[in-house]
Amino acid sequence: MSLSRNRGTLGDRIKRRVIVTSALPYINGMPHLGNLVGSMLPADIYSRYLQMAGVEHIFICGSDQHGTPIELSAIRNGIDTEKFADSMHERTKNALLNMECDFTYYGKTHTEQNKRVVYRIFEALDRNGYISEEEVMQAYCLLDMRFIPDRMIEGICPYCGSAHARGDQCDDCGRLLDPQEIVGPKCSICGKSEIEFRKTKNLAIELPMLSENIKDFIRSIEQNVSKNALNKTTSYVDAGLKSRQITRDLKWGFKVPKKGFEDKVFYVWFDAVIGYIGITMEWNEALGEEYWTDTNTELVQFMGKDNIEFHTVIWPAILEGSSIGYIKPTRIMVYEYLISGKIKFSKSRGVGLNIENALDVMGAEYWRFVLSYLLPETSDMDFSVELIFEVVNKIMNDKIGNLVNRAFTISSKNRALLSGNSLREITGRKIREKLGIYRNDFENVRMREALKQIVELADLGNEIMSVEKPWELAKAEDAEGFSKVMNDVLHICRCIGIMLWPYTPNASTYILRHFGIDGKPQIDELQKSMEFLPDDDIKPIFSKIGEREKNMLSGFG
Ligand code: 2FM
Ligand code: ZN
Repeated sequence: MSLSRNRGTLGDRIKRRVIVTSALPYINGMPHLGNLVGSMLPADIYSRYLQMAGVEHIFICGSDQHGTPIELSAIRNGIDTEKFADSMHERTKNALLNMECDFTYYGKTHTEQNKRVVYRIFEALDRNGYISEEEVMQAYCLLDMRFIPDRMIEGICPYCGSAHARGDQCDDCGRLLDPQEIVGPKCSICGKSEIEFRKTKNLAIELPMLSENIKDFIRSIEQNVSKNALNKTTSYVDAGLKSRQITRDLKWGFKVPKKGFEDKVFYVWFDAVIGYIGITMEWNEALGEEYWTDTNTELVQFMGKDNIEFHTVIWPAILEGSSIGYIKPTRIMVYEYLISGKIKFSKSRGVGLNIENALDVMGAEYWRFVLSYLLPETSDMDFSVELIFEVVNKIMNDKIGNLVNRAFTISSKNRALLSGNSLREITGRKIREKLGIYRNDFENVRMREALKQIVELADLGNEIMSVEKPWELAKAEDAEGFSKVMNDVLHICRCIGIMLWPYTPNASTYILRHFGIDGKPQIDELQKSMEFLPDDDIKPIFSKIGEREKNMLSGFG
């Protein structure tokens, strides 16, 4: 069953309301390109498309500030944890803004607003009987003399044999783990194996009691969940759900508001998923409440594949069990990994190019285009320097950039010959076909495919130019012939300008300025025909990369 319930299609101006979210990045390190391509970038592109389509929506993201890695980094740097988390939040936010992410709001999880929502949901879950007390064994490091959170336990995955499993999850096979399952567990604070498992009492959410609701939920959105996520979720649920701890014996986090548990904090994942709501409230309490409780709101969530089960099982269980009336996801988009020389990008292992460093190599528009062109929708993406060069130099520069530059230059130089703005029938048909596919791809959240339509339109423009040689028509002062050819090509350039806006907004703005469109374009403008405004200051929108970039990138390919 599709959840788009008679709301019409994306381009229709039927009242639609959408919350778009990107997974909230941990801020113990700067997000790398794998984080960007797995959540913020596709979410941003989709949200920008909704803006062009005039759909009422908000795009929410923010820093996931809790968790032990942050606490430990703060301790190592001798800084108060909250201060450290806030400074890392600011740095991350700026880097994402430099990547041209156009959030409605980029917030953080350690706020009063989020705490209020977390407490409200927790108390409701408790009242409804879904919270149980569990005596559990937690890893205790005899050398560090403290409980060690699951994620800080490292060793071998009992399922896939990866040597990089962590106590809560194996990032290589995606399984959620119990720290006691890890083979050869080591403490990642001191790196030693002086670990014993000690008894401690914590709170858990009773997933088995909610298992039928979760199955119903998954069935209700199965058309709108990436295949990889659906398969993983189904096998996880079919294996039988177990209760899952939501509190920890740690200091950094929200204190648990329950007698006997005051010295514990909520588990980072519990307040991170709830953080989507908390961050919306940080943006605007009244509108936030409206968005999250309107049963007509669509909730479209973007994430990397290591975040699947928390979003397809635990998050809907939290929402359902609290019965407050907050909406559940209507679409879950999951992306695979970036693999660099067969190594997955990983923040905790320090592998991969982070977004601050990436911006030193080349501008945001280049990364946005390259990553969208290679978006790992269905399989991991082998990310090599050669591939980056191929996309920037041969696609962005040679196909799109050159077309626009040549078309604008020749039209500006021969402005006296250019008249009218009608399209030839055959070109019109070919363009309409591409526009239809582009819009349909966006309705189905296929941003990589939609970008291919832009490239194909550029191919069409380049073909018209090379076959019909408008420079010869200009030389012969054939105004009619010149106008016929160039009106087709300029129309293609204008469509490319609009279609590029979700991907490369600056290049788009430059192109559209030459057609009298200022600021954000509207998707309906694709249908209009507009005159070209000649200009003596034509500049290339993209340029090639070379040795400098190659040297900077080597080591990541
Ligand atoms: O993988 C991560 O970076 C997590 N911080 C994602 C959390 S998404 C959501 F729960 F907030
Ligand atoms: Zn230790």
